[in-house]
Order: sequence, then C-alpha cells, then structure tokens
Amino acid sequence: MTKIKKEYIEKLILDAKIALKKCETIHAVESLRIKFLGKHGYIHQMIKIMRDIPPQDRPQIGLLVNKAKEHIQISIIKRKQILKSICHSNLISEKIDVSLPGRNIEKGSLHPITLTIAKIEKFFIRLGFINVSGPEIENEYYNFSALNIPSHHPVRTEYDTFWFDPIRLLRTQTSNVQIRTLINKKPPIRIISSGRVYRSDYDSTHTPMFHQMEGMMIDKNINFSHLKEIINNFLKNYFDGFNDLEMRFRPSYFPFTEPSAEIDIKWKSKHWLEVLGCGMIHPNIFYNTNIDPEQYTGFAFGLGIERLAMIRYGINDVRIFFQNDLRFLKQFK
Ligand code: DAH
Repeated sequence: MTKIKKEYIEKLILDAKIALKKCETIHAVESLRIKFLGKHGYIHQMIKIMRDIPPQDRPQIGLLVNKAKEHIQISIIKRKQILKSICHSNLISEKIDVSLPGRNIEKGSLHPITLTIAKIEKFFIRLGFINVSGPEIENEYYNFSALNIPSHHPVRTEYDTFWFDPIRLLRTQTSNVQIRTLINKKPPIRIISSGRVYRSDYDSTHTPMFHQMEGMMIDKNINFSHLKEIINNFLKNYFDGFNDLEMRFRPSYFPFTEPSAEIDIKWKSKHWLEVLGCGMIHPNIFYNTNIDPEQYTGFAFGLGIERLAMIRYGINDVRIFFQNDLRFLKQFK
C-alpha cells in the first residue's frame, strides 16, 4: 500500500510539471492549480484518505504528500513568473505609440487622357450625343474603303499603318465608327466615340498609340452652320474661362467629308494650332451604308485627345502621357 502511494505521489508531481509546461496563459496555470491544490484537488483527496492508511505509515506518506504539495506550489509560482515576464516583454516589443501620425493611404488619380475624354464627352452628351464604341482591330473596309479612301492612298502603306495581314489592321482613326454606326442605325443619328488609334510614328508630338474622338450628327436639313456652332461652343467650353481663345475654320481635305475644314485655335501662344478636322459627310459614305443622301445630310468631326490635353495642360512632349511617371501623373486630379 505504502509503495503504491509513494509512486502515485511521484507521478502526480511529474504530471503537474508536464501540464504546467504546456500552460501558455496565467489563466491555464490557475486552472491547473485548482486541479492539483484546490479544495477538491488531487492533494486534498490524498489528505482525506490518509485516515485509511495504517498508522505506522502515516508520517512517511504525510511527509511525501506535503513535499508534493510544496513541489507543485513552487512549480506553479515559477510558471506564473515565466508567463508574466513573456507577457511583459511582448508588451514592450508590441508597444504602440498612439501619438504617432497615421499611415497615409495614397489615393489614385485619373489619367489626364481619361480626364480629357470625360470632359469632352460631358459636353456632347449634354447636347444629346450618344457614346458608342468600335473595335481597335479593324477590317480595312471600315477603316479605309468605306470611308472613301482610295486603294492607292499612301496612308494605307506599311509606313503608316500596322497591318496584321492584307485585310486586318490596327485602326488608324476612330472614323471606322462612322461606318459601323451607319450600317446599324438609321438617322437621326448623334454619336460620339472615343478610343485608341494606332499609327507608325514616334517623336515629341506623335506616339504609335494615341486617342481620338469621333463625332457625327445626321438628320434632315443638317448643314455647315450646325457644325460651326457646335464646334465653336465645344471649344469655348473645353477652354473654359479662357476668353482670349481665338478660332478659325480653314478649308481642308478629307476623303470622307465634303466640304472639309480644319479648326485652328490661338490660345496663350502666338501661333495657330490645329485641333480638329471636320466636314459635311461625303455622299459616298451614305451610298456605302445605304442611306439616301437626298434625304439626309450630316456632319462629322475627329479630334486628337492628346493634342487637346497638351494645349490645355501646357505639355510639350506627348510621350510623357505614356511613361507612367508618377511625378507627372499625380498632378492631375
Ligand atoms: N479621321 C481624321 C484623322 O484621323 C480626323 C477627321 C477629320 C475625322 C474629319 C472626321 C472628319 O470625322 O470629318 O485625321
């Protein structure tokens, strides 16, 4: 009996030590203390059954039980100390200085080309123009032939145009949308369409990819004065608040308009700057898309987004738009 008790007591001490080592919180240590040393704990249970032990064995077993109690008590205190010091050092290393300024979350901003397109779209949408889009990979028919551009025209060569094969190319102008719209819609038509266009060019005023916006208005009795009035108002709106803006319509030539004009502006500089091309839609465009030119007339215009953005923001090298330099891009909100 005595022998069994002694082994049992030693095992209890060992169990307590193993369990204590696994305790990661003071709370866990406390639960363990109750389990071993509490009122209904193992030590007390042993004390309770002491009276069943033969009197001659009691002093020896009593001594062992007291030693075990002491042992476990010391182990508990030690474990608590260790946990407290870990907690303390964690507190120090994880200390937060609440007076420090918060971390700045940088807000993105819209690209100047996006801002320019949005500003122009807003003007035309208010006049009832509808925004449409067209493909960038285009068939030569929509980009050239249907727009009255003859097969021998130099813009069709590889020097100017990116061809995939003899039929498919990267569109060189947003005017392809004129044809695609006229095939699908019947007049009255009022559309604008902006997007990327591609030409084999690279210098301070040309990039191989750039943006254009096309506009078109077709109805009965549309004439050149409608075109003039809308373009006048558009440019005044675009260069808002700039009363010193001068404008001129200069006769020009585009295969898809007759008559054609280019608009120049003089603003802040001594020179005239060309900003857009326009004209009355050529009857051949109507024939190509099954619209009766005796019944309907219309005008079209095409403008270069980069060019308008450069004038407005005072930029002299178009390439900066596409270099992703944050110092430049951050200036536009
Ligand atoms: N597509 C012409 C270009 O890229 C611009 C243009 C001129 C568009 C006159 C038009 C227009 O719709 O009527 O240079």
